Amino acid sequence: MPSAARSSLSLRYESARLAVLDQQALPDAERWLDGSDADAMIGHLHALRVRGAPLIGVAAALCLACLARDGADAPALHAAADRLRAARPTAVNLRWAIDRMRPALSGTPARVEAEALAIFDEDVALCDAMAAHGAALIADGEELLTHCNTGGLATAGVGTALGVVRRAWESGKKLHVWVDETRPLLQGGRLTAWELARLGIPHTLITDSMAAVVMRAGRVQRVLVGADRVAANGDFANKIGTYGVAVLAAHHAVPFHVVAPWSTVDLACADGAAIPIEQRDPAEVRGVTGRADGVGAVRWAPVATPVFNPAFDVTPGTLVTSLVLDTGVLSGAELASGALARTARA
Ligand code: MRU
Repeated sequence: MPSAARSSLSLRYESARLAVLDQQALPDAERWLDGSDADAMIGHLHALRVRGAPLIGVAAALCLACLARDGADAPALHAAADRLRAARPTAVNLRWAIDRMRPALSGTPARVEAEALAIFDEDVALCDAMAAHGAALIADGEELLTHCNTGGLATAGVGTALGVVRRAWESGKKLHVWVDETRPLLQGGRLTAWELARLGIPHTLITDSMAAVVMRAGRVQRVLVGADRVAANGDFANKIGTYGVAVLAAHHAVPFHVVAPWSTVDLACADGAAIPIEQRDPAEVRGVTGRADGVGAVRWAPVATPVFNPAFDVTPGTLVTSLVLDTGVLSGAELASGALARTARA
């Protein structure tokens, strides 16, 4: 692979072209789309063809590299960066990656590309570090529960929460994973189940409303989820439904772990109330919108039914047993005492 080429489960960058795996087509089709153009990438981000907090930052950075290599000048690159940055509001990683790209955008195309590749490489390393810290928490024989998709599809590396599961499995621990299907867009059923099957990790898909039953049956020893933004006090935003899982875990005395890199921490948010929550199309709740080509569209609610469709919820830090970062593990008590702000990297 040439040195300026990078490849992950859902991104392929080579010769100033970026291909993205269409996560809306999974699990039925592995379809690669072009993401080298800002309008195309913004469309992919809106439609969740490219999704997952770390991944959207990495993909946006690589898109800027394509634009620079294609001859866009600094004002055009900054304008594209503004538009990419605004594509999704909750995951701070998108903003983080774009802001990190800013100084390079006034430099040579080679500099823009180098910064984007550094962001890609760093995300791979962050995932490996989180996986190592988190896997140490898991005992042989445990049954785990996860929500949404936090694996190789959602990052440039092995993933956040699912990367921990993968590392524990690869170290020889016997595991079983309960996969929340994750209404309304089914990232668990479509994507996490697909990843776990590829990895050969035993798993069972459940609807979100079944998590309580499996916990009460004593079938969950640990919950692992990712985050889209972690506030200074340990409150965090993640895929809608995460808060409910955290409440259930607390009720059943099941340890609840959040796995996220420092690029997901936003110390400017004092607490979860400051995190902007993306509201999405009511059609996603009235039925299954299907793919862009119309495949799979089904509506079950009346067409004008009022809908509440927040893409994320905020879980209080008080429900977090520990936060697994790339730099180590912070307990819930440490989060509550302001450890995140104290341990922030310069
Ligand atoms: O709307 P999505 O699919 O981008 O939401 C993704 C999540 O909520 C993940 O749990 C999160 O990004 C953290 S792990 C990569």
